[in-house]
Amino acid sequence: MVRVRLRGYLWHLTTFVMSTTSRLLEKFDELKKKNEEALLGGGARRIEQQHKKGKLTARERIDLLLDEGSFEEMGKFVAHRSHDFGLDQEHYLGDGVVTGYGTIQGRLVYVFSQDFTVFGGSLSETHAEKIVKIMDLAMKNGAPVIGLNDSGGARIQEGVVSLGGYADIFYRNVMASGVVPQISAIMGPCAGGAVYSPAMTDFIFMVENTSFMFVTGPNVVKTVTHEDVTSEELGGASTHSSKSGVTHFACANEAECIRQIKTLFSYIPQNCEDEAPRSAYEPGNEIRPVLDTIIPENPNQPYDMREVIASVVDGGEFFEVHKNFAENMVVGFARLAGRSIGIVGNQPAALAGVLDIDASVKGARFVRFCDCFNIPLLVFEDVPGFLPGTDQEWNAIITNGAKLLYAFSEATVPRITVITRKAYGGAYDVMNSKHIGADLNYAWPTAEIAVMGAQGAAEIIFRKEISEASDPAAKLKEKVEEYTQKFANPYGAAQRGYIDEVIFPRQTREKLIRGFQMLENKAAKLPRKKHGNIPL
Ligand code: HXC
Repeated sequence: MVRVRLRGYLWHLTTFVMSTTSRLLEKFDELKKKNEEALLGGGARRIEQQHKKGKLTARERIDLLLDEGSFEEMGKFVAHRSHDFGLDQEHYLGDGVVTGYGTIQGRLVYVFSQDFTVFGGSLSETHAEKIVKIMDLAMKNGAPVIGLNDSGGARIQEGVVSLGGYADIFYRNVMASGVVPQISAIMGPCAGGAVYSPAMTDFIFMVENTSFMFVTGPNVVKTVTHEDVTSEELGGASTHSSKSGVTHFACANEAECIRQIKTLFSYIPQNCEDEAPRSAYEPGNEIRPVLDTIIPENPNQPYDMREVIASVVDGGEFFEVHKNFAENMVVGFARLAGRSIGIVGNQPAALAGVLDIDASVKGARFVRFCDCFNIPLLVFEDVPGFLPGTDQEWNAIITNGAKLLYAFSEATVPRITVITRKAYGGAYDVMNSKHIGADLNYAWPTAEIAVMGAQGAAEIIFRKEISEASDPAAKLKEKVEEYTQKFANPYGAAQRGYIDEVIFPRQTREKLIRGFQMLENKAAKLPRKKHGNIPL
């Protein structure tokens, strides 16, 4: 009797376990299938089309960007809520954007990667919500956001909710600005309002030939201005890296783009309270004799400021930003004794290193990024002044030059200047002079610190004397020499303490390492205010 009951019990138990197991297996299978479906995005055919265009998929890009196995996806099963124009019949898990977090070189980062295979990566209400979610997390947890953009813009079928979604992102771009670094890579089309989110991030990367950015495309341009222009000419990587300066980096292909993002990442901190990661540094002989011979005998002969930079920084490695735009100014990151620094230099090899509108804006933007994120600033100065002319004046060199002056004046990070040769006129003041808050100012013996070049100065102040002389040319020569003797050197400025020390070029690296070490605990604050009013 007992045995019969036990047998019955075991039979029930086995049936229960089996049905439970098969129910569980069904559920696990459902999840597995959903995961597989999500991984396919818009389907195999569209993935193939994407590859044919020389583009990677959203997920392939994330795999390249993040440390292996570190990506944690969020919102994989999010789907749009639209019913109009047949959208209720078309759902793709994830809704055209892959979002989540992971690590680069072991450091936390939030990522979104738009999936062009789903409705052309267009931005719907739900697509925007996914991006907003990771941006909010990034701000709360103090980690950078990297956006991989590949999108046809607002989801046309959705109307205003899509526009609202964009605005939700724009608002967060602004809230996050200066809190965490924001990096945008443009890896496909980026049109209409879609360009404004990247525009408000700190750095933009573009890929040659497969990405473009414009507010209105070639067709609208043709209708309105009757100009014939291709997408590439209007808003390709070359255009934006050299003509408009919208993009900071133009990369040959997507793999190169992602490599460059990782390099940039290595120089910047996680957030505005953090410091950039340091590299190992073995103190050694810091004297660089090669610097003694860089400045040409003839003060009007150009040389490449990048050579000076490479001879000073660790390993000669300079990660240049905005390389092809406003080449008369060089900006970028390097390391000094293992510590990340931002470098701003006049470039005598392009337009004699003159300050013009583009150079001023380029420099100002870079200075402000470094100041937001605690990256000390090093300035190499060789500047003949501001560029004269109607083009510059009518396009507001006054307002634009003031941006650079404002940016340096406002920066509270450690700031050191080295004047290698010319420091003329207002440009002397602007280029991180002592008067606007630089901490240490060095000059090489070749420095010329004056209101203007000797020739121009002599022509103005000795005009009468020269015109009345029996030999005006000889008189001019004599006066130019007189002015040169008096002002074309660093000693007048050193006498007043505007220059802390005149150094031999070969000592530069050593002086800078010591200087930045001395300034390591610098604590400077701006006067209490809501915010300043930079001349935009
Ligand atoms: C919905 C879109 C879409 C969009 C593309 N698709 N853009 N779906 N909304 N905005 C879909 C296409 O229907 C197609 O679907 C797939 O994505 C791929 O598009 P193709 O045109 O076949 O690709 P391609 O030839 O490479 O051209 C890409 C493109 C083009 C240049 C981006 O699709 C395009 O011009 N799209 C519209 C761009 C645009 O005007 N967007 C609105 C901007 S205004 P199937 O099913 O065939 O795969 C805006 C306002 C924001 O963004 C304002 C914020 C302030």
